[in-house]
Amino acid sequence: MAKKKKGEEKDMGKVAIYPGSFDPITYGHIDIIERALEIFDKVIIAIAENAEKRSLFSVEERLQMVKIIFKDTPNAIADSFKGLLVDYVAKTNAKVILRGLRATSDFEYEFHMASMNRSLNTHLDTLFMMTSKDYFFVSSRTIKEVAKLGGGVEGLVPDLVARRLKEKFKLPITKKKQIVWDD
Ligand code: PNS
Repeated sequence: MAKKKKGEEKDMGKVAIYPGSFDPITYGHIDIIERALEIFDKVIIAIAENAEKRSLFSVEERLQMVKIIFKDTPNAIADSFKGLLVDYVAKTNAKVILRGLRATSDFEYEFHMASMNRSLNTHLDTLFMMTSKDYFFVSSRTIKEVAKLGGGVEGLVPDLVARRLKEKFKLPITKKKQIVWDD
């Protein structure tokens, strides 16, 4: 076995890359990251810079939100990448791409992506984690749609994200509405 050079020790351990658009990050993503941190020593949240895809938040805005949300979790590292995911992964010492699966409808897209990534780099595996039942219906797309139309997204995204969504859609920052039922 090759002897480790000085300084290489800090990169040891199991690393997973959790790629995505994160436009914006939701509690569904956060749930996957927290559970992955029980398995991996480090999870790199890799925000894809995709010029083709119209995003609500800039990469810098998305990166900043993720960094703030995980500021007390040193093993969750926020980063961004351009180009092919496999090329980004090759620059790290990760062997695993992590993706969340909500429903069978996610499967086809994920299957294609994982198969393509594996054909591009046969040393890479994609690991799927089932989203917790509380967040099965949560996606960045529906969060944006609901927030744009003035619906409450509290409890589905961190408060910071809920505030940033309101700022984006120029909606008033209000306290969470609570419906109280009288008997
Ligand atoms: O959250 P998303 O939008 O479902 O994430 C998709 C993402 C960013 C993981 C995927 O589009 C991706 O890996 N993009 C980088 C470009 C790439 O490598 N494409 C080939 C994978 S099939």
